[in-house]
Amino acid sequence: MSQAHESLENLLHEERCFAPGIEFAASANAQPEIYERAERDPLAFWQAQARELTWEQPWSAVLEWDMPYAKWFVGGKLNASVNALDRHVGQGRGDRVAFYFEGEPGDTQTITYAQLLMEVKKAANALTEIGITAGDRVAIYMPMIPEAAIAMLACARIGAPHSVVFGGFSADALLSRIQDADAKLVITADGGFRKGAAFALKPAVDEALKGKHNVEKVLVVARTKQETAWSDRDIWWHEIVDRQPLEHVAQSFDSEHPLFILYTSGTTAKPKGIFHTTGGYLTQVAYTHKVVFDIKAESDVYWCTADVGWITGHSYIVYGPLINGTTQVMYEGTPDTPHKGRIFEIIAKYGVTILYTAPTLIRTWMKWGDEFPCAHDLTTLRLLGSVGEPINPEAWMWYREIIGGNRCPIVDTWWQTETGAIMISPLPGITATKPGSAMGVLPGISAQVVDDSAKPVGNGRGGFLILDKPWPSMLRGIWGEDDRYKQTYWSRFEGIYFAGDGAKLDEDGAIWLLGRVDDVMNVSGHRISTTEVESALVSHEAVAEAAVVGAADAMTGQGIVAFVILRGGIAHADGEALLVELRNHVAKQIGPIAKPRQILIVNELPKTRSGKIMRRLLKDVAEDRQVGDATTLADPNVMKLIAAGLQSAKDED
Ligand code: PRX
Repeated sequence: MSQAHESLENLLHEERCFAPGIEFAASANAQPEIYERAERDPLAFWQAQARELTWEQPWSAVLEWDMPYAKWFVGGKLNASVNALDRHVGQGRGDRVAFYFEGEPGDTQTITYAQLLMEVKKAANALTEIGITAGDRVAIYMPMIPEAAIAMLACARIGAPHSVVFGGFSADALLSRIQDADAKLVITADGGFRKGAAFALKPAVDEALKGKHNVEKVLVVARTKQETAWSDRDIWWHEIVDRQPLEHVAQSFDSEHPLFILYTSGTTAKPKGIFHTTGGYLTQVAYTHKVVFDIKAESDVYWCTADVGWITGHSYIVYGPLINGTTQVMYEGTPDTPHKGRIFEIIAKYGVTILYTAPTLIRTWMKWGDEFPCAHDLTTLRLLGSVGEPINPEAWMWYREIIGGNRCPIVDTWWQTETGAIMISPLPGITATKPGSAMGVLPGISAQVVDDSAKPVGNGRGGFLILDKPWPSMLRGIWGEDDRYKQTYWSRFEGIYFAGDGAKLDEDGAIWLLGRVDDVMNVSGHRISTTEVESALVSHEAVAEAAVVGAADAMTGQGIVAFVILRGGIAHADGEALLVELRNHVAKQIGPIAKPRQILIVNELPKTRSGKIMRRLLKDVAEDRQVGDATTLADPNVMKLIAAGLQSAKDED
C-alpha cells in the first residue's frame, strides 16, 4: 500500500438535508452566535462553561498545556456529587424526579433529587466507615440499577476514583481491571434481571477475587435476593448503608483530582485504563449535555439507553444530566423483554422527550419491523440522539420517520471514552442535518481531517480524524502506563491526538465518520471505508444491517465480503436473485469498485457488548481461517451460527 494513497476514498453522496424547525430553533439552548463566541476566544468560552458549575475555590489558570498533558481550571476546587445533587436540593429542586427506574421484571422506583442525595450521603458515610479515603480506587460491577449511580456518586463525593466494570464482563476481565487499578473495594450486587430471568453477579466477583489483589471488602446490593455464597469480606449494602447518618458534608477536591478510570478493551491487547479528572470533565459533559440535547430540565424526560459500564453511561446518565438537573429514565433490562416493544412502551409510559441510543439498537428495531414502535404513542419525543458507531443514512432516516415522526431533530454524536464528552455533533436548533453525518465540531472544540502527512484534506476528501487542540474532558492518561498513552494517541502524528477513526468532509465541509482506520479495505489500491459500503447495503429496502470486511484477494489485494441481516418479513427464499440485486445496488450507489465480491446472509452479527461489530472475526470467516479470540463478544454463539450457516450454504452449492 503506497503511503501517498493513505487517505480514504469519498464514495457515498447524500443529497437529503433537514433544517431545524422554526419553533425548535427559536427556543433552543444554543443559538447561532455560540460558534462565533467560542471561536473568538476558546479559553474564555470554556471558562464561561466552567462557571456554570459550583466551585468552592476558583481556578487561577484556565489551561496548562504541556503536550500531551493538560490541566484545566488549575487550582480550582469542587465536588462532583455536590454539583450533581446538593445544589439542586439547595436551590429548591429537591422534589424533582432524578430517575424513573424501570426494572426488567416490571418493578419501578421514582427517585427525587432529595432522595438521591440522601442515598448518596449514606453511601458515602458507609464507604468512609469501610475505610475508603480520597484517592483509593473502588471497582463497581453492577447491573443497571439506581445503586450503580449512587455508588459512583458516593465515590466521587469522598474523592475515591471509581472504576466501573460492565456487569456483562467475565470474572477474568473483572480481575484484570481490579488488579490494574489496584482497587481496595468492590461494589456489586447479588445479580440482576436480564432477558426474563435473574442472573448472578456476585459469583463472578468471588471467582475474580481468587486471583491476586488488594481488595479488602465487597459491598453487595441485594437486587434479586438469590442464594449467594458469603465470606467475611462481604457486606450487604442495606446492612451498612441503611444505618448511616443522613448528613454528609462533602469536601472539595482539586480540579485535576482523579474522578474515574474506565477501561476500554482493545481488540487484542490489554485493556487501557482511561483516566479522567474532575473540573474539566464535569464542565464539558454538562455543557455538551445542555447544548446537544437541548435539555429543558423543568419539562424534559430524558432517556439514554446506555449502561453505566460504558463512558456514555458515565457522561450522559450520571454526570452531565444530573448536573443539569435532568429527569431521566433508567431501565435495567434488554429491549426485547418481555416483548420487542419494551423500549417504546417505556417511552409512552413516562412521556420521554429525548432519546439517546446506539445505531446497533436502531438497526435491530428496523430488523424487527415497524409494528413494534407503531403500536405505541411516541409523540412526546422531541429530539433523538445516536452514538457509538457510524449511523447509516437509511438507519438515520428510519429513526427520523418511525421513531421521531419526522418531527425530531437527530443529533449524531461522535466521541470516545478518551474524549470523555461529545466532540462532533450537530446543534439541534442550528445545524441543518444530513442523514448519516455528525456534521461539525462543537463550539470550543478543534478537529481536522488530515492526510498521511497531517495536512488537512479539504472538502470532498477523506482521511484521518485528529483533534489538534486540548479540550477540558480529555483523558489525562492511561492509568499507570505513560509510555502507552504517548504511543497510542500522540505518536501517529507528532503532538496531535489521533485515536483511530477515519472521516471525510463532504463538499459542504460536513464531517462523515468512516469507522476505524484499521477496518479500512484496500481494493485495487483504493482505500474504501467499511462504513460506506455498509451504508450502501443498508440503503436497500431488504437490508436491516450489514457488516463489511476486506478479505485477502489474489487479484485485487482485498476483496469486499459483506454479511447482511435482512429486514423483518423478508424471506431468504429468492436468495440468489437478491444477492445479485444487492451487489448491483452497491455498484450503483457508490461505484463498481465497491461491489462486494461475496455477500452472505446471516441472522446475527458478532458484536461487542457495547454493540460494536467485531469485523476482525468476520474477516477470519471470510478468509477461511480459524476464528480468533471471541471472548469479548456479547453472544459467544454468534460466530458458531455464522460459520454453521456458511457451511450449510456451501453444502447446498
Ligand atoms: O470509532 C468511533 C466510534 O466509537 C469509538 C469510541 O468508542 P467508545 O470509546 O466505546 O465510546 C463510545 C461512546 C462514545 C470511536 O472512536 N463512534 C462513537 N460515536 C460515533 C462513532 N463512530 C461514528 N459516529 C459516531 N457518532
